[in-house]
Amino acid sequence: HLGLQTDYIGKNIYFEETVESTQKIAARLVYEGAFEGTVVVAEEQTSGRGRLSRTWHSPKGTGIWMSVILRPDIPVQKAPQLTLLAAVGIAQAIEKCTGLSVGIKWPNDILINGKKAVGILTELQADPDKIHAVIIGIGINVNQQHEHLAEDIRQIATSLLIETGREQKRAELMQAIFLQLEKLYKQYMAEGFGIIKLLWESYAVSIGKEITARTMTNAITGIAKGITEDGILMLEDREGVIHYIHSADIEI
Ligand code: BTN
Repeated sequence: HLGLQTDYIGKNIYFEETVESTQKIAARLVYEGAFEGTVVVAEEQTSGRGRLSRTWHSPKGTGIWMSVILRPDIPVQKAPQLTLLAAVGIAQAIEKCTGLSVGIKWPNDILINGKKAVGILTELQADPDKIHAVIIGIGINVNQQHEHLAEDIRQIATSLLIETGREQKRAELMQAIFLQLEKLYKQYMAEGFGIIKLLWESYAVSIGKEITARTMTNAITGIAKGITEDGILMLEDREGVIHYIHSADIEI
């Protein structure tokens, strides 16, 4: 029991033991007409999905692997704003629950002491002009020991346990996340992206620094200038040309 203080995020929760991906289950629930705020949580994922077609290591019992369904009435091109909103809400909740201070790497990796502890994958069900649902997939490394992180990411990943030296109650953190997400989401629907953008920028680790944005087909190096009103990254190359990056891997 979570002792929820929210109006809709996390009111309907589907707890699963083992799933391929909570994103898949959430997508099915959307088709079946799931309410806004419905959440799917799994103890373990056998094919957790990451951004850019990568896999997301989701071992049993140590992390938070969940998908949150939102049904905002916004234009499709504004959907990236919700990814940034989610990153801010999770950052706030982690800071509140652990006392750690975290950073966000565009668009939505949450870093602690420079290492990634959280990944967010936002998927849309939409027609060209209308969003039916936004499924925000959230993966948080909570109670993994260093040696339990997948070998290929051990140098670049971390967990809350590794950073604080103590176990974190997952239910408590989930509840804090639901609360922060709902607060920000309500504010967003009422007032737009302005405040969320400022909050996001206050957590951003790469703004003003030289970074490389890599896509499947090319790489652009430049100074990260900030994000647009739609949540797109602006990168200024050496010639002073501004590139608008919708989706890429960022090297700091
Ligand atoms: C990233 O590449 O950083 C995003 C990782 C997102 C992982 C979460 S875990 C819960 C949800 N279900 C998935 O299959 N992926 C997301």
